Amino acid sequence: MEGASSASIRWALLCTLLCLSLSLSHCNVTYDGRSLIIDGHRRILFSGSIHYPRSTPQMWEGLVRKAKDGGLDVIDTYVFWNVHEPSPGNYNFEGRYDVVRFIKTVRDAGMYVHLRIGPYICGEWNFGGFPVWLKFVPGISFRTDNEPFKLAMKKFTQKIVQMMKVEHLFQSQGGPIILSQIENEYEPVKKIFGEAGKAYMNWVANIAVGMGTGVPWVMCKEDDAPDPVINTCNGFYCDYFSPNKPYKPTMWTEAWTGWFTDFGGPLYKRPVEDLAFSVARFIQKGGSFVNYYMYHGGTNFGRTAGGPFIITSYDYDAPIDEYGLIRQPKYGHLKDLHSAMKLCERALLNANPVVEPLGNYEQAHVFSSTSGGCAAFLSNYRTNSNVRVTFRNRHYDLPPWSISILPDCVNEAFNTAKVS
Ligand SMILES: *[C@@H]1O[C@H](CO)[C@@H](O)[C@H](O)[C@H]1NC(C)=O
Repeated sequence: MEGASSASIRWALLCTLLCLSLSLSHCNVTYDGRSLIIDGHRRILFSGSIHYPRSTPQMWEGLVRKAKDGGLDVIDTYVFWNVHEPSPGNYNFEGRYDVVRFIKTVRDAGMYVHLRIGPYICGEWNFGGFPVWLKFVPGISFRTDNEPFKLAMKKFTQKIVQMMKVEHLFQSQGGPIILSQIENEYEPVKKIFGEAGKAYMNWVANIAVGMGTGVPWVMCKEDDAPDPVINTCNGFYCDYFSPNKPYKPTMWTEAWTGWFTDFGGPLYKRPVEDLAFSVARFIQKGGSFVNYYMYHGGTNFGRTAGGPFIITSYDYDAPIDEYGLIRQPKYGHLKDLHSAMKLCERALLNANPVVEPLGNYEQAHVFSSTSGGCAAFLSNYRTNSNVRVTFRNRHYDLPPWSISILPDCVNEAFNTAKVS
């Protein structure tokens, strides 16, 4: 009897371990004040926006592979309501609009997805992604505490979430989606609507969380995003940004790589030195998620360009150009930045930065712990002069407006202004 009972205890233990390891591979994504937590691990994540209707399905695999080779972990896309529901209840998920195929392409490359459902998305897309028929729903008023609007937007959001669940695409089901967005840059709109705006924002957060996806929701540019929704930053720089609660991670959902173009307007360029500087500055302050908007901008096909007067090219001066070709030095310099950051990941995730002044316009941010080792960021905020700084008895030359990354607190692996 003795032997049998210990065997059955061993058997029960084995079962428990098996179930544990099975459920571990289907974990909910959670977060703390430092970062998202995937499979029980905190992560520093680099992400890039690639909008599936702005390229062709034949291009998707190549674009995603280039993004992965460029050091990205995540692909971010909006969901484009007006192409999916051209008339009420008639859906289209074919060809360029095959969002499930796009997400599976990302999954098959071994990457994650941030699904920004909106379903108001702005995005320089016609009518901000709203179907035109929505305007003719009796009594409707967009993006506020209005029953006809709430009914339509909830129905579409639920439809998309349900499609993802059926295909097992959420990380909690073993799929690639680690994050979702509801609404888009609502803060300024909320102010216009006053109390009705606040009520709508809370309602929106509630229905999103209530869908039980097992992955966190974000609201970008919405200072009051209610728990557990995470408020996130969009901009050219986000190092000033902190989330509205200390137990939420610091996330940058749109790091603008360039800008869109109006008819007759200039083609904007953003130097990669400045972009890399802004990213390093965000991470050294404690940021843990950066999404490049856009990583591949692509093309506004047909009449999808938003208004007024956005041109068909949505190139955005992105690291991958409109035609799917690598744009240098932007792509390569960011790739080097990501490699250097990954060398720092353990240090970044195991310590809070200690800031040491190195001069009037120079600083060191040092992440040091016994469990994570040491990584340092040396910054020169002067806009037009080189400086030589001394850090732990060694000299480092920092070009103007630059940050050097030292993954071991000694050797410079990367400087944001030194493009090779
Ligand atoms: C995962 O998330 C779902 C949906 O939010 C929830 O119902 C479930 O309890 C969570 N599971 C765990 C283990 O936390």
